[in-house]
Amino acid sequence: MEILISNWSNVECVPKKYIFPPERRPGKLEFPVCHDIPLIDFAHNHPDEIVQQVIRACQEFGIFQVINHGVCENLMYATMNMYKEFFKLPSEYKAKFYSNDINKSCRIYSSTFAYDTEEFHYWRDNFTHRCHPLEEYIQSWPDKPPKYREVVSEYSRETRKLLYKILDMICKGLGLEKGYFEGEVSKTHLLSVNHHIPCPNPSLTLGMPVHSDPNLITLLQQCDVPGLQILKDGQWIGVHHVPHSLIVIPGIQLKVMSNDKFITPVHRVVTHRLEARTTIGVFLGPSLEFLIKPATALVRTEPAEFRAFTYPEFFKVFNGGANKSDAQLTLNHFRDKH
Ligand code: OGA
Ligand code: NI
Repeated sequence: MEILISNWSNVECVPKKYIFPPERRPGKLEFPVCHDIPLIDFAHNHPDEIVQQVIRACQEFGIFQVINHGVCENLMYATMNMYKEFFKLPSEYKAKFYSNDINKSCRIYSSTFAYDTEEFHYWRDNFTHRCHPLEEYIQSWPDKPPKYREVVSEYSRETRKLLYKILDMICKGLGLEKGYFEGEVSKTHLLSVNHHIPCPNPSLTLGMPVHSDPNLITLLQQCDVPGLQILKDGQWIGVHHVPHSLIVIPGIQLKVMSNDKFITPVHRVVTHRLEARTTIGVFLGPSLEFLIKPATALVRTEPAEFRAFTYPEFFKVFNGGANKSDAQLTLNHFRDKH
């Protein structure tokens, strides 16, 4: 399984396929770090104040970090360690999960699902699986490292609870009925773990494509190795790591449902010369049939900014070529011109 970079050892130079052309590489090694990303304390604020902070963050920044969020620090630590161990497992074990089929419920792959046809590879392995309903998917999860299923099921339960708590705050802040984001609107619950080994020359490579999350909402646990960057006012800036925090990213689906009130950030991941980096993402997204459209309560008093579409319709346009797999450009296709 030489495809998976987690199986490589003693990498001394960047293989040609991983060197991006000059206009797409990060180029430099030092990026400004953004300390303005809203940091919201869920414990030491008045509930109404927290709701206001969440809404403001979604409107002005499109990314925020939360502390005292209720997900136990030991559980975060245990899950992160589980994945560090997982990527170190023998290549024959990981190979059992290797697949580029996006419909497979549990799989590992490298770079992107287009590995076999893409011109350049991203410097990452990704391990992803479905999480809900647990009984339906847990058998497809790895049974190694020992306790994987126990620890990760607890982690997905706890992070799911937090995501719904945040979605409830968003309902409150936007004036939507409680529970508006439950059901088909958030039926798909995925865990997606990125792993990057140290890279001999980070200025030439990328750990993840420039992208915007297309789903409803994303929760991200970072480690202390930097890498995540957001595009702000035309500049790439690093997201600093706050110990025990979790990052929240509103996706394209939430931007549409908020009737364009929210920002979905453009982001990417750069690689690190000396240290491996692992991040754990939890994604809530729609069922394939769900009609994504501005929330009914909002368009009673304002014009709808988008027409209704399903997730598969979105990806048909996204992958269609004309939009260069850019979620924000793809979204323009569904904008209502009034
Ligand atoms: C993602 C993502 C960032 C990271 O998985 O969509 O943007 O730091 N991850 O791994
Ligand atoms: Ni992302």
